[in-house]
Amino acid sequence: MDINYTELVQLAQLSRARAYAPYSKFKVGAYLIDTNDECFYGCNIENASYSATICAERTAFMQAVAVGARKFKAIAIVGGLGDEITDFCYPCGVCLQFMSEFCDENFEIVLYNGKEIKVHTLGELMPFRFNKENLK
Ligand code: THU
Repeated sequence: MDINYTELVQLAQLSRARAYAPYSKFKVGAYLIDTNDECFYGCNIENASYSATICAERTAFMQAVAVGARKFKAIAIVGGLGDEITDFCYPCGVCLQFMSEFCDENFEIVLYNGKEIKVHTLGELMPFRFNKENLK
């Protein structure tokens, strides 16, 4: 696959700069590519009513799905407290479930800890998934 992971992670960092996280101060950025190479930014958006918060990954997917994208190649995710990135930010269970609606097991999840890039697949992070196949 012709994905430039370094560029993907850089663009996720750009998304992260737009995070709205006044409560946790944990800012997350995501950058999503569909199979037509269309790209979508996402950041976490918190709310005073905490449970109304949405993660960066789902923000990116919602923007994409809302303009008609349905098949995806990869998402880069970066997150951390304050300005520096020091750890890999794995997608939460709700985001993995959300991805499972539109992505197969080969969908790539690209993470960055400030030093290294790590690439997982959705199949690795969520080997058993409840999805539309179960409803047939
Ligand atoms: N968050 C994300 O945006 N993505 C993740 O994968 C993990 C958590 C956000 C939600 C909340 O705004 C903050 O990080 C702390 O949980």
